[in-house]
Amino acid sequence: MEEVKVVLITGGSSGIGAATARILAAQGMKVYAASRRGKLETPMPDIIPISMDVNDWEATQLAVAQIVRAEGRLDAVVVNAGSGIYGPVEGTLEEEARHQFETNYFGAVKTIQACLPVFREQGHGRIITVCSVMSVLQLPFQGFYSSVKAALLSLSESLSMELKGSGIQCSAILPGDVATGFTSARKFTAASEDPASPYRSKMDKNLKKIEADERGGMKPEVIGKAILKQLKRKKMRVRVIPRIDYAAVGALVRLLPEKSKLALINILYT
Ligand SMILES: NC(=O)c1ccc[n+]([C@@H]2O[C@H](COP(=O)([O-])OP(=O)(O)OC[C@H]3O[C@@H](n4cnc5c(N)ncnc54)[C@H](OP(=O)(O)O)[C@@H]3O)[C@@H](O)[C@H]2O)c1
Repeated sequence: MEEVKVVLITGGSSGIGAATARILAAQGMKVYAASRRGKLETPMPDIIPISMDVNDWEATQLAVAQIVRAEGRLDAVVVNAGSGIYGPVEGTLEEEARHQFETNYFGAVKTIQACLPVFREQGHGRIITVCSVMSVLQLPFQGFYSSVKAALLSLSESLSMELKGSGIQCSAILPGDVATGFTSARKFTAASEDPASPYRSKMDKNLKKIEADERGGMKPEVIGKAILKQLKRKKMRVRVIPRIDYAAVGALVRLLPEKSKLALINILYT
C-alpha cells in the first residue's frame, strides 16, 4: 500500500477542511489547503494555503500542477469545498439552483478531473468526497442542497467502479450536523425571504431547528478523524457515515419504507 504523504484539501480554509488539514499534518502529511481566500484560520507548518476557486478549471489544474511540481507526487484529494442553500423548491430561481450545483457539484467534478491524470500516472491515488447524510436523507427546504449531495454520492460511487483495478480508490464521507461556518455561510433564496410565503410558518420552525442542530453539532475534527482513518486503510470504504448515532440513522433510512421515512422527517422538520 502506497503511504499517503501529500494531500490536497479543497475548502481547507475553515470548518471540516481546516480541521482535517490539521489532523493530517499532525500525522506528518504535507497538506495543501485550497480555498478562495487562500488563507488558514490558524497557520500551521506542513499546511500550505493555496488560493483556488473550484469553479475555475484553469486555477484548479494549475494548483494540482503546482503541488506535483513541488512535491513530486499527490497521494490524495479531499473534495470538500461547498456551501448550503435554503428555500422552498417553489419559487427558487434557476440561477440560485445552478449556483449551488456550480460549486458543490461541478467544482467537485473539476477537482477530481484535475487530480485523476496525476493519480493514473502514479498508479495510485485516493479521492475522498465530503457528501452529507443529506445525500441519503432529504430535508424540506433544502431540496437543492439535498439534491447536490445525493448527486455527489452517486458520482463518487460510479467513479469507484470505473476506477476498479487502477490503484485509485474513492470514498464518500457523509457527515451529519457539524458546527462550522457552514451555517452562517448558507445562502437564502429570494423566495425563502418572502414574508407572505405560503411556507412561512413551516420554514420559520424548520430553520430554527436546522440552525440549532448545526450549531450544536459535532466538532469538525470528528470528520477529520474519519477521513484520516480512510487514508490509513489499505482499502477505503466506499461510503462512511461518521459517528455511531448518524450511522444508525443512515441504517434506519435504508430499512424504512420510503413513505414512512418521509413522514418521519416531515414530523421532525416542519
Ligand atoms: N457543517 C455541516 O453541518 C456539514 C454537514 C455535512 C456536510 N458538510 C459539507 O462539508 C463541506 C465543508 O463545509 P464546512 O461545514 O466545513 O463549512 P465552512 O466552514 O463554511 O467551509 C467551507 C469551505 O469551502 C470553501 N469554499 C467555498 N466555496 C469555494 C469555492 N468556490 N472554491 C474553493 N473553496 C470554496 C470555503 O473557503 P473560501 O470561502 O475561502 O473559499 C471554506 O474553506 C461542505 O461541502 C459541506 O456541504 C457540512
